[in-house]
Amino acid sequence: MEECEREEEGVSKRVQVRGRGFFGIGVERSKTPENVGTLLRSAVCLGADFVFTIGHRFGRQASDTVASWRHIPLYTYADLEDFASHRPFDVPLVGVELADGAAPLETFEHPERAVYLLGPEDGSLSGRALSLCQHVVKFQSAYCLNVASAGTVVMYDRQAKLLGREGVRIA
Ligand SMILES: C[S@@+](CC[C@H](N)C(=O)[O-])C[C@H]1O[C@@H](n2cnc3c(N)ncnc32)[C@H](O)[C@@H]1O
Repeated sequence: MEECEREEEGVSKRVQVRGRGFFGIGVERSKTPENVGTLLRSAVCLGADFVFTIGHRFGRQASDTVASWRHIPLYTYADLEDFASHRPFDVPLVGVELADGAAPLETFEHPERAVYLLGPEDGSLSGRALSLCQHVVKFQSAYCLNVASAGTVVMYDRQAKLLGREGVRIA
């Protein structure tokens, strides 16, 4: 949020307005609704605008202890082609994966608009998913993190860098 001056009924007021940019985060072929529920919760807490799944492998809606669907939408894409044909215009896709050649998250400059894509609990981002990405990032960890935890790290990193650079507050 940013503060700005706005005229309302002839009176000038300082109001909070949303800054430019947005982001979403999702998982390719997620195995469990619990992980999507946890990711959703973190997403609401860390300022994401939407969460999505691509070809998830569970049969029911994600468990969600803070009713995050009241705050941000959860989109479900049937497969990567469905996702690719409905991606928002001019928004870089950032793969999050322990892949060779991935950029270190620690020094990554997050795009103003971004969609982050994580791999499944029991695998990695597919070759097709990686080919759709404009960036791929990884962060240092002794072992691979749980997918929802990895997503939380990435969202926190984005928030921390925005806070440091622009003093932007999430809530
Ligand atoms: C539990 S890991 C998947 C298992 C892992 N690919 C393997 O084969 O052992 C789930 C997902 O979390 C993300 N992830 C976990 N740790 C990561 C790290 N240090 N850097 C980037 N992504 C990470 C990736 O998106 C990964 O596909």
